[in-house]
Amino acid sequence: MLENFWYAVELSHEVGTRPTPLRLLGKDYVLYRNSQGQIVALDNQCAHRGASLALGWVEGNCLRCPYHGWSYETDGQCSHIPADAAGTSIPKRARVQSYPVQEKYGLVWVFIGSLDLPADRRPPIPDFPQFEAPVRPATYSRHEFAAHFTRTMENAIDTSHALFMHKGAIGASNAPQNTEIDDYEVTVSDYELAASLPIKVNRLNGVMRFVLQQDDPEAHKSYRFALPNVTYSAVQFGRYKIESIMVHIPVDDETTVVKSVNLRNFLNQVPGLGHWLDGNTAQVGNKIMQEDDVVVKTQVPQVAPYGDMRQELLVASDATLIAYRKLLKRYSVPSVLPEAVLPAQQTAG
Ligand code: FES
Ligand SMILES: [Fe+2]
Repeated sequence: MLENFWYAVELSHEVGTRPTPLRLLGKDYVLYRNSQGQIVALDNQCAHRGASLALGWVEGNCLRCPYHGWSYETDGQCSHIPADAAGTSIPKRARVQSYPVQEKYGLVWVFIGSLDLPADRRPPIPDFPQFEAPVRPATYSRHEFAAHFTRTMENAIDTSHALFMHKGAIGASNAPQNTEIDDYEVTVSDYELAASLPIKVNRLNGVMRFVLQQDDPEAHKSYRFALPNVTYSAVQFGRYKIESIMVHIPVDDETTVVKSVNLRNFLNQVPGLGHWLDGNTAQVGNKIMQEDDVVVKTQVPQVAPYGDMRQELLVASDATLIAYRKLLKRYSVPSVLPEAVLPAQQTAG
């Protein structure tokens, strides 16, 4: 639905010299690291008779099919057919598509779209300088959602559900007005949106209660969304900050795998405590994701209705979602994905 973008598709350290299958937008790819340490992305179906190349193995720069042993170069061209007599020329059509790849912030980015588009006209990979060379290693997490990626992304930048739905994990006040969201500004650029708002929690739970010892009236939460499939969130308590890049890997219409790269800027010098903190943060993160999944997969329509906003009733606190849908509308390719699927009762009759 969004073409000509760099999709974040995997964590860098998960791609090695064993082929890694990748399913993206209902299509199968294979990733592997060649002898120069570069990641290669190819179509997964062998040009010979369609076997999965992800079941094959890497030889130097090449990927060999497990079925009859055809070997593919990094550009996708087949360079060896074991059953052919030596000297037999290899047909030009003996090739699979190869895709541009970059590694950044501990993530693998694959360009999906027109490969004729000159490299300098591709929209950029979003900028996260603090993730380029972090002081301490990032931590990683993964959660699979039974939902379309437009819905998991909206969930990640939805400002008003957190204090309502994740009270247990985050903390809350008994005062009901603490779920109110003040008006906030959304900044929109060519391919991104950003928002920042105060967090009204006066009884924090979990790690932050331990670290802060007290509530911070200046606590802030920041959100970013970057086309096509990245969200970012930061929680800042005074000088303490926890931030995450979340990539929403659109496996198919019903499945999204969310992987995150997480950084914090405190307790970096105390290994034991840091380790405990990482474990605790991961636990809280998992609980939050599970709570999200239960609700997000029930949303109808399945694809966020970016074409006609009147299909839902968005209010002031949904400003991030309104901006997100405008970006989707601007860049989506209607011929690739039909307009948002309507709920059954609306399509019937
Ligand atoms: S199917 Fe791959 S070599 Fe035959
Ligand atoms: Fe949530």
